[in-house]
Amino acid sequence: MVQRRIPKITDLAPLMKFKSPEFNAKKRRLDAALTINDLRAIAKKRTPKAAFDYTEGAAEAEISIKRARQAFEDIEFHPAILRDVSTVSTGWDVLGAPVAQPFGIAPTGFTRMMQTEGEIAGAHAAARAGIPFALSTMGTTSIEDVKAANPNGRNWFQLYMWKDRDRSMALVDRAAKAGYDTLLVTVDVPVAGARLRDQRNGFSIPPALTLGTVVNALPRPEWWINFLTTEPLSFASLDRWSGTVADLLDTMFDPTVDFEDLAWIKAQWPGKVVVKGVQNLEDAKRLVDLGVDGITLSNHGGRQLDRAPIPFHLLPQVAREIGAHTEVHLDTGIMSGADIVASVALGARFTMIGRAYLYGLMAGGEAGVDRTIAILSEQVARTMRLLGVNALEELNPAHVTQLARLQPVAAPLVAAADAAPARKTPVRKETVSVSAAVTGTPVRRAPKKATPAQ
Ligand SMILES: Cc1cc2nc3c(=O)[nH]c(=O)nc-3n(C[C@H](O)[C@H](O)[C@H](O)COP(=O)(O)O)c2cc1C
Repeated sequence: MVQRRIPKITDLAPLMKFKSPEFNAKKRRLDAALTINDLRAIAKKRTPKAAFDYTEGAAEAEISIKRARQAFEDIEFHPAILRDVSTVSTGWDVLGAPVAQPFGIAPTGFTRMMQTEGEIAGAHAAARAGIPFALSTMGTTSIEDVKAANPNGRNWFQLYMWKDRDRSMALVDRAAKAGYDTLLVTVDVPVAGARLRDQRNGFSIPPALTLGTVVNALPRPEWWINFLTTEPLSFASLDRWSGTVADLLDTMFDPTVDFEDLAWIKAQWPGKVVVKGVQNLEDAKRLVDLGVDGITLSNHGGRQLDRAPIPFHLLPQVAREIGAHTEVHLDTGIMSGADIVASVALGARFTMIGRAYLYGLMAGGEAGVDRTIAILSEQVARTMRLLGVNALEELNPAHVTQLARLQPVAAPLVAAADAAPARKTPVRKETVSVSAAVTGTPVRRAPKKATPAQ
């Protein structure tokens, strides 16, 4: 029989741990987020559906992004025990200069549409954290304003080559003059990927006020107040556009860009050059031959080709074969610090976050981006300690295995494009001389000339 007694006040006192209430609602909201997925849930509640879906969505059936995340979930870590991990260092040099974390903020377009503070929030947060901030060609804040927000930190400029090459290179020139240290040349958008969520939502730039958007706006007043009472949303480096994103990309972007063009771009940039969107070893090797400083294994967060190779799966072989000559970076699917540590262990010198940053931005503006960086940084340091390492240099492939679920049944033979000569349309004798294009002979373009954008 249990003996009961009346509790004394002195027994209860140590149990009573009332926290002083946090009156700042944003801080309360953000502090409660322990993972990037928690930030995503807050972001979803606060952002109109079309803008949230534009950010979160990917191409076609969104298989590329699901697989990329699955590959990270299928990591098995192998820790070493009984190591002194009282100190841990999460920084090293990337492209010849220090970073405080092995991750940075990826370039994203239309960022002020997700939340009005946009790129400035990202650049401020990156400056505080000592990590690079990459500004997109499709950014909504000017090259110079972003530099002013991160004056002593590292700014990278992401280039999409437009049909109007003079205008594209004028941006590159501005970025060099403003002191950006790295040019990220994105090469996986010869044409726009099919973002079906955007089509279904009738998403356009600027967002259109329809009956649907107005109803959707009711529970999200802050976004709309911000949208209507701050500087109108526009591209910082593009003329005003009115239409869908896909039409914009297909109108502006140059689908003819090739390796020769890349060499030409590289020759005009005084800093480091990284090619973003590499998806096989052969292309990576060609880029090493061109002398680029880094490559980013990426499928654009699954927003271009669906069912594309999983960057994390390409990583070990690519890092083994070219890592000694060129830095290998990686993005797509990163949602936790463990994903970043695993990538470094398998040979990545650096990683980039797209949606993880934007979820933080949508959840709480600049403070939300700080929270994203804090969550990932804590996860990086904790994972390293639990693995028994003190520094990034100590991470190596033995720390990680990938469980088999998504591995190819057989390794791809060679890069698809180089595997077999392109099938030529049978050519009848009398047409041979008509046009090089008909015979499949590549036509070398004249030195780059400005072509008016259509
Ligand atoms: C909303 C959004 C906009 C993006 N815009 C660009 C862009 O303008 N230029 C670019 O090179 N990549 C762009 N990306 C791709 C990112 O730079 C990065 O490759 C991708 O987000 C990484 O995947 P993650 O979102 O899973 O981290 C964008 C990604 C998102 C989610």
